[in-house]
Amino acid sequence: MPRILTGITTSGTPHLGNYVGAIRPAVAASHAPGVESFYFLADYHALIKVSDPARVQRSTLEIAAAWLACGLDPDKVWFYRQSDIPEIPELTWLLTCVAAKGLLNRAHAYKAAVDRNVAEGDDPDAGITAGLFMYPVLMAADILLFNADKVPVGRDQVQHIEMARDIGARFNHLYGDHFRLPQAAVEEHVATLPGLDGRKMSKSYDNTIPLFCNRAELKKLIAGIVTDSRMPGEAKDADASNVFELYRAFASSEETAAMRKAFAEGIGWGDAKRQLFERIDAEIAPLRERYEALIAHPQRIEEQLRHGAEKARLIAKPLLAKLRDAMGLRDLGATSATSTREKPKSALPQFKQYRESDGKFYFKFLDGEGRVLLQSVGFASPKEAGAIIANIKVGSSDLGALVGAVVRAPGVDDASIATALRLLQPAD
Ligand code: TRP
Repeated sequence: MPRILTGITTSGTPHLGNYVGAIRPAVAASHAPGVESFYFLADYHALIKVSDPARVQRSTLEIAAAWLACGLDPDKVWFYRQSDIPEIPELTWLLTCVAAKGLLNRAHAYKAAVDRNVAEGDDPDAGITAGLFMYPVLMAADILLFNADKVPVGRDQVQHIEMARDIGARFNHLYGDHFRLPQAAVEEHVATLPGLDGRKMSKSYDNTIPLFCNRAELKKLIAGIVTDSRMPGEAKDADASNVFELYRAFASSEETAAMRKAFAEGIGWGDAKRQLFERIDAEIAPLRERYEALIAHPQRIEEQLRHGAEKARLIAKPLLAKLRDAMGLRDLGATSATSTREKPKSALPQFKQYRESDGKFYFKFLDGEGRVLLQSVGFASPKEAGAIIANIKVGSSDLGALVGAVVRAPGVDDASIATALRLLQPAD
């Protein structure tokens, strides 16, 4: 059965943008038959950005209560807290030992932090923790431990899923086929909500509407949404309005069409906002009631999460035992019998440079078993050979351009070259 898995970093208070963009679609998907859903509170990830312990705790409680209030059924899905699963940090280390450092150097979040430092004339790594650098490996462990097929995420997270694939493929290559390789699922038609100021609703812009603020606050916040200064009676452009965009995220298609008409006919901003408030409140009010009941009893949520962790560990523990064995972390009494019979695992593919008696510089590209995939012609300098290697590494699909510089070994096709190149990672 296909497995869907996603994590929610416990660093803030759930807002309407989280609800429309993540919670609502995820809860709906979790009710579909024929899938297994895994949702977890990524509190280890929260430690990378938040150093206030009370906030980590509070956010974990609020996010857990929000997901439950919005209809996530812990009997149907796997709902747990990352830090309750010791197999996650354990797998993180195993993966750390196969992940290329060069791959991590390329992670957007880390690179952006380095770029900021450099732009400010600071040391490139100033203020950057090893946690930020390792973030993609921890995330790969979250995903690979449960053999997830699909990972619903925002666009900013797609690179991390690709890294999880790369790390998983590398592990499989070295130690046997243990992991399914995950795919990012970016929901194209799920709305990104505008915030109070018209930019994307996001904690970092401080423009959010908390999902479970009370009616009065909700009304007040909506009244404060930025609009243009058109008067009642003046026609308004629905497509340029964040009030309309918010309304649409909560309304049926008929309601949306009626609101579009009202905009064209010059509905006043006050009226439009009142209708927006009523529409949002109609959907949220019953959830708010459940949320308040839940959050009044943190101990019950705690128990639910612990129960969820037990359920998740039924999957995590046996897989981790297999991985430890595959890597050689074994019972000493049991190893001697197996290790003598065990054939050495294949290595990673590699480029080998060498000089021939003709004085020229050559290279070969070998797969993990040491078979030659590509053989170069002779070059006048090692630098020239190196330049061609660099080209092959980046332009894996365009071997045609390298005709004359390399020849394919007999029986080797594009696919096996591409597979070998994928296992190579930056700076290998
Ligand atoms: N890094 C993700 C975010 O900030 C949260 C997350 C942690 C996650 N582990 C994950 C998402 C695993 C998907 C799968 O949004």
